[in-house]
Amino acid sequence: MSTELAGTPVLILREGASRSRGRDAQHANITAAKIVAESVKSALGPKGMDKMLVDSLGDVTITSDGRTILDEMDIQHPAAKMMVEVSKTQDNEVGDGTTSAVIIAGELLGKSEELIDKNVHPTVIIDGYRKAGEKALEILEKIAIPVRSLDRQWLKKVAVTSMASKLVADHKEMLADIAAQAILHVAEKSGKEFKVDIDDIMVEKKPGESVSDTKLINGIVIDKEVVHPGMPKRVEKAKIILLDAALEIEKTEFDAKINIESPDQMEAFLQQEETMIRDMVEKVVKTGANVIIAQKGIDDLAQHFLARKQILAARRVKKSDMEKLAKATGGKIVTNLDDMSASDLGNADLVEERKIGDDKMTFIEGCKNPKSVAILIRGGTERIVAEAERSIHDALCVARDIVREPKIVAGGGAPELEMARALRQYAQTLLGKEQLAVLAYAEAMESIPLTLAENAGLDPIDILSELRSRHEKGEIWAGIEVTEGKPKNMEKAGVFEPLAVKKQIIKSATEAATMILKIDDVIASGKMKAPPMPPGGAPGMGGMGPEGAGEF
Ligand SMILES: Nc1ncnc2c1ncn2[C@@H]1O[C@H](COP(=O)(O)OP(=O)(O)OP(=O)(O)O)[C@@H](O)[C@H]1O
Ligand SMILES: [Mg+2]
Repeated sequence: MSTELAGTPVLILREGASRSRGRDAQHANITAAKIVAESVKSALGPKGMDKMLVDSLGDVTITSDGRTILDEMDIQHPAAKMMVEVSKTQDNEVGDGTTSAVIIAGELLGKSEELIDKNVHPTVIIDGYRKAGEKALEILEKIAIPVRSLDRQWLKKVAVTSMASKLVADHKEMLADIAAQAILHVAEKSGKEFKVDIDDIMVEKKPGESVSDTKLINGIVIDKEVVHPGMPKRVEKAKIILLDAALEIEKTEFDAKINIESPDQMEAFLQQEETMIRDMVEKVVKTGANVIIAQKGIDDLAQHFLARKQILAARRVKKSDMEKLAKATGGKIVTNLDDMSASDLGNADLVEERKIGDDKMTFIEGCKNPKSVAILIRGGTERIVAEAERSIHDALCVARDIVREPKIVAGGGAPELEMARALRQYAQTLLGKEQLAVLAYAEAMESIPLTLAENAGLDPIDILSELRSRHEKGEIWAGIEVTEGKPKNMEKAGVFEPLAVKKQIIKSATEAATMILKIDDVIASGKMKAPPMPPGGAPGMGGMGPEGAGEF
């Protein structure tokens, strides 16, 4: 980039940097964001399709989860990346609705382009979108139905809806019930409200059997077996020591040599090693522990001594599992063998090794802290188990959302249609071009019922006009029930979602769209090419975008 200053060009950017501005920059950004939205559209709703994603190492992921799809796509374009951020924010805040948020953001941008072509300035569109977003939130609050926050049935209902659109939908009732119970298990009263930390719920997965064999465990599971065959496989009234210290003689960091000149010396050396290990084991035994869970290694000889004392031990347990165990059993993680006592021990009713599929896992049940709970996910293949885990994550999140904010709305596009209706009415109160922006926002809302219908193979236009008129007549929960394939009162159909998810969709989508609209200058350093790119170059999109992919 250069500017003429008194006849001399002044260079302020490094060679190779590129810049695109004004309408070009806007167009490129909007196109990129729209392509991202297009690529997840077909995954929306119970009739949405799954995506198969292959990463650079050839690992395959099958999913319909918006965030996962975008994460795995390894997107490069800066504006497209902002759309990926939308799905991340949505996921982190409320755990569901990632596909919807991206679709709406894409639609808002698409409509804005039409307005820009009609000479509406982006600033006016941004203002209109912001106003419309606020209004939309007001409408959601107004139509939301309050429920009891700790009601297992409501928790289950929203969890069922969130899983209806996943690969594991066949088992949604049973999985949703597990999710609801797990959330109720860890919910804690804080002031007038309830607090839930999803991380308190341990989720372990093990391929084998079927998704219907997924279980809720009243305690903790670790993917480790008992280290020595001579040890007990089951210990009742367990007193557990959590060790972050090795029960073995540590190797020196540098090569050390010992010269042994006689068999006696050899004998003495081995003897000393044995004594040291015996001492270590003795220190553990003294605490009164009958179970050892170790983060580091346990030497063969130590295992042998422990087995003789009938102590159950598991080793090389993940740090995160150790922390969960500490919380669950009330034990302290010991880092120094010389500094431990009975007060460091954790308690559980039962520690037992069980065979799960081909592997053995250790179960710690009836923990001191009754709030500890785990979900052990099973399923035919590695990929099914992985998608089941993502689906249970969504289910846990929506159930938690209800505990945090006990309000729901019906789904199937009904709230989006109601927002669109009210926004059209609101637009009448505005003047000039801002009105156009609010009307565009209303239309963007309708992309959700439209896409749900489209994905179900129904005629979206017919359905939309029927639904619009039903909303005009005051039927706020009229939506598209896709399993039956027709417009229906979604409240009666029993499809419910947390208000929090819908609110966050509006917030994330509006924010992303306005942020992208505000950019009119893209300056990229030499390493990163600024859009638009030469035709054919769509790095990282993996060919998933439609024809427009070549544009950036
Ligand atoms: N039986 C149903 N009939 C119609 N719509 C339904 C039904 N069940 C769920 N839906 C709708 O499906 C949409 C959710 O679809 P989906 O779970 O695929 O996307 P998302 O929640 O936006 O994103 P993600 O789950 O990928 O984070 C919601 O609008 C919900 O109301
Ligand atoms: Mg969902």
